[in-house]
Amino acid sequence: MLDIKLEDIVSLCKRRGFLYQGSEIYGGLSGTWDLGPLGVQLKRNILQSWWQTFVEKRSDIYGLDSAILMNPQVWQASGHLEGFVDPIVKDQVTKIDYRADHLLEDQGFEVEGLNLKELQSLIDDNQIKSPDSNPLSRLNQFNLMFQTRIGAQDERAQTVYLRPETAQGIFVNFKNLIDSFQPDLPFGIAQIGKAFRNEISPRDFVFRSREFEMLEIEYFCPPSQWQTIFDQIKIDLNDWLVSLGISLDSLTELEVPESERAHYSQRTIDMQFAFPFGEKELYGLAYRGDYDLRQHQDLSGKSLEYIDKKTQSKFLPVCIEPSIGVERLLLAVLQSAYKVDEENKRVYLALPAGLAPIKYAVSPLVNNKADLITKALTVFKNLQAKYGCVVWDDHGNIGKRYRRQDEVGTPACIVIDFQTLEDDTVTVRSRDDLQQKRLKISAL
Ligand code: GLY
Repeated sequence: MLDIKLEDIVSLCKRRGFLYQGSEIYGGLSGTWDLGPLGVQLKRNILQSWWQTFVEKRSDIYGLDSAILMNPQVWQASGHLEGFVDPIVKDQVTKIDYRADHLLEDQGFEVEGLNLKELQSLIDDNQIKSPDSNPLSRLNQFNLMFQTRIGAQDERAQTVYLRPETAQGIFVNFKNLIDSFQPDLPFGIAQIGKAFRNEISPRDFVFRSREFEMLEIEYFCPPSQWQTIFDQIKIDLNDWLVSLGISLDSLTELEVPESERAHYSQRTIDMQFAFPFGEKELYGLAYRGDYDLRQHQDLSGKSLEYIDKKTQSKFLPVCIEPSIGVERLLLAVLQSAYKVDEENKRVYLALPAGLAPIKYAVSPLVNNKADLITKALTVFKNLQAKYGCVVWDDHGNIGKRYRRQDEVGTPACIVIDFQTLEDDTVTVRSRDDLQQKRLKISAL
């Protein structure tokens, strides 16, 4: 893959209206990002593609949209209250907290697979100091869940949490789905939604942020089938990534060692993508066993057992979870599409047409001839009504318009010129090969 600098993507995103820093005019809010008009359209196209692929076109996966705020017992049962933590150290002078593993990584240490005790001794042995060269505190565990209070702000107020994963909304609705639809095993429940994590050091653009969107499926099956299904879900997900323009060459599979797995996982692989800042997780695929259903069954006192329709035997299914952070996926899609065409002195986004935020840009060849503009506006309005995501672009000369549309990945630009007035044909210029064709307006 082309050697792309993160700054180039960040700059394009801001300049062309894909992504902005959150609350920018106030100096920003660390770990938050706002999607501009093209960013939100690209994201919606990605979400729609996932939903179509994994929900609408499959009869074994059901959709769900559960609440972000949940009864706090959910997080007790899930183990997040106790186990959803990062190791932190405090600068003794500035009182700033740092993620211990990030601090060590930034200073060139290999920390993968190390437990807390080993991290602490690495800090002690190497007399690691903070970035301001100050001494550090001992390691502590920091819970990543954001807290808020629900109801009147007095002693009756209840502490609740912004969900750190959408998965728990699925587990607590497992019984509802069984009661409403009586699905045969194996079956899955899919959800798209916001999640929140109080990251100590959000970084690498949108890769690690405090508020983000997740695509998650909990796929339930009898214990004997989990390995086969685990492998099949990986194939399905990778095929889908390829359909978004992400090449398999840019992915590496990492078997996550036990010491680094989430508390609920018996096996996890991270599918890593070659981002400009290194190979990092694009999606995780975890085998959660029956951990979650069992925990919720125990704490709620409600049976979450599945009853086999043939044998009437009752058991807790196990579950496999593919989990994707959408903003980092958006970054991977942009990076995969980013092309530098030295010969023609241009940068363009070779986005698959279905993902491109703008499908067509329509222009009059010149913007000072009334009859041309009238004709071009008619073509524009018809195409917009038919397809949506069509823009009108009459700024600058035609060459500049093409460059601007190339940079945002518009697959085709349509130009109305003097010949159009005579024979109703237009020029259709293609983003990728720069070919120009003349087509009848009726054939667009
Ligand atoms: N549900 C997977 C995760 O939180 O990463």
